Amino acid sequence: MKTKIFLDSGDPAETKQTLDLLGYLDGQTTNPSLIVKHPDAQARFQSGQKFSQQEILDFYKKVIQQISAIIPAGSVSVEVYADAQTTAQTMIEQAREMNQWIPNAWIKLPTTSEGLKAAHELSQEGMRLNLTLCFSQEQAAAVYAATKGAGKGDIFVSPFIGRLDDRGENGMDLIANIVKMYQAGDGHVEVLTASVRNQDHFLEALRLQTDIITAPLKAIQPWAEAGQKVPGNDYIYPKGALSSIPYQEISLDQDWSAYNIQHDLTDKGLEKFASDWNALIG
Ligand code: E4P
Repeated sequence: MKTKIFLDSGDPAETKQTLDLLGYLDGQTTNPSLIVKHPDAQARFQSGQKFSQQEILDFYKKVIQQISAIIPAGSVSVEVYADAQTTAQTMIEQAREMNQWIPNAWIKLPTTSEGLKAAHELSQEGMRLNLTLCFSQEQAAAVYAATKGAGKGDIFVSPFIGRLDDRGENGMDLIANIVKMYQAGDGHVEVLTASVRNQDHFLEALRLQTDIITAPLKAIQPWAEAGQKVPGNDYIYPKGALSSIPYQEISLDQDWSAYNIQHDLTDKGLEKFASDWNALIG
């Protein structure tokens, strides 16, 4: 099977469960909202206690180290804190620090202009990165251009399909479009299908032969229990009333800063990650 399977979770207990269920696990993605959902963070929050800035970072580091110890040969994504005001320089400093937490880190940066500036610089240092909150083909083209020269598989782009579905657009089309656009490239960016909410997303991402799927345990479990089959081209994705996202002819050869990377869902996603995180800090 070409596609690598990652777990989308901030809880190492689920890492262990998924590893036992599948018999392997290629990696795990985390984000601020997922870390906030960790049972220990929630217990502390419910008891009225908050974290200091340092305590929450120490907590994130501990969780990441536990995940890494369970899947030492896998890829573990760790996300920088970023809101609309965060500069590329601040992201770079966080990324350098987080990258030292474990040997198998991929640092997540938002697909914003500051995030791409940071990605450009950090990829040149050889850091492995995951560009998150991607909602358009043009953003994926910018990720490709900003990280040119990186080693094969060192860079992931994470298109969020569930959040496009939530507003009536067929998120799976974005995956198909990016996979097609990247065929003209050198393969240094892998497509990581993210924001997977259900079994159909999972099966369609497998059929499209996306490089990586990250999914919550609840979407992995039915696939594992049905024998881990890869659907063929006879699988019909039930897109229902979702509207199609047309393919655009976009060259990968422009300067990364020339692409139009603005997307309202990226801005909203950034805000939500920051507010979930900040709610635990007092
Ligand atoms: C993973 O890298 C993403 O952060 C995650 O899949 C987002 O999922 P959601 O849209 O269900 O929050």
